[in-house]
Amino acid sequence: MLRITVMNSKGGCGKTTVATSLASYCSAQGHGTALFDYDRQASATRWLKERPQRRPPIHGVAAYAPPREGVTRSWQMRVPPETRFIITDTPAAIGDCEIDDRIAETDVVLIPVLPSVIDIHSTADFIRDILLIGKARSRNKHLAIIANRTRIRTKAMTRLERFLESLDIPVIAYIRDTQHYVTAAEQGLGIHELDARDARQDEAAWAEVLDWLHAQEHSSVGEAPQPRVVQHAHHY
Ligand SMILES: Nc1ncnc2c1ncn2[C@@H]1O[C@H](COP(=O)(O)OP(=O)(O)O)[C@@H](O)[C@H]1O
Ligand SMILES: [Mg+2]
Repeated sequence: MLRITVMNSKGGCGKTTVATSLASYCSAQGHGTALFDYDRQASATRWLKERPQRRPPIHGVAAYAPPREGVTRSWQMRVPPETRFIITDTPAAIGDCEIDDRIAETDVVLIPVLPSVIDIHSTADFIRDILLIGKARSRNKHLAIIANRTRIRTKAMTRLERFLESLDIPVIAYIRDTQHYVTAAEQGLGIHELDARDARQDEAAWAEVLDWLHAQEHSSVGEAPQPRVVQHAHHY
């Protein structure tokens, strides 16, 4: 079982879009999939409520809420035995303690980032936090970036990629900016489940993400980065 957490303290960068798109894609590929929602705004939970019954199933856990009366936390958090992927959506403005908790409970951290200069700066800061506060490297976590709402490398994105290269963090997919994601979000669907023919081309990005996840199941993380490299995040 692989635990995947979608995180970035920046709001609106596509955490819920990545979590729900990936969950529906994994499920469509026949993998037992669970979707954990740690965001009080409950966007992922609402998406799952809209999901039609006839679509490949996803087990949902509203982890932001305390367990119902008479139910233990561990019962609330249980997943079906055939679960292969647990995908976790997280809130914006995530605090230090919560970063630490989420990193402790995951194998993979996926970080969506928009190609704007502001988003790239705050993402560099966030990466510094998950390395220093979350100790993601010494805890052997796999980190990857998903460039969202773009298909092309902007100048700012190229700068981010150079920074990521120095930290050995890959950009594993470029997600196109398209209204299809908005439409799919409203209907509890993944983009690959829409009727629109031109949504097919967007499916490839999710196939790449899943391939990368499969590769992580069988590999271990390299050496911890030098503190000197981490410091660069302050000046990015
Ligand atoms: N690739 C995309 N193309 C078009 N709209 C997108 C894309 N990714 C996200 N959005 C839209 O941007 C808004 C914010 O995305 P969301 O996934 O909710 O971000 P977050 O969970 O990080 O706050 C939503 O309305 C969503 O539908
Ligand atoms: Mg969200």
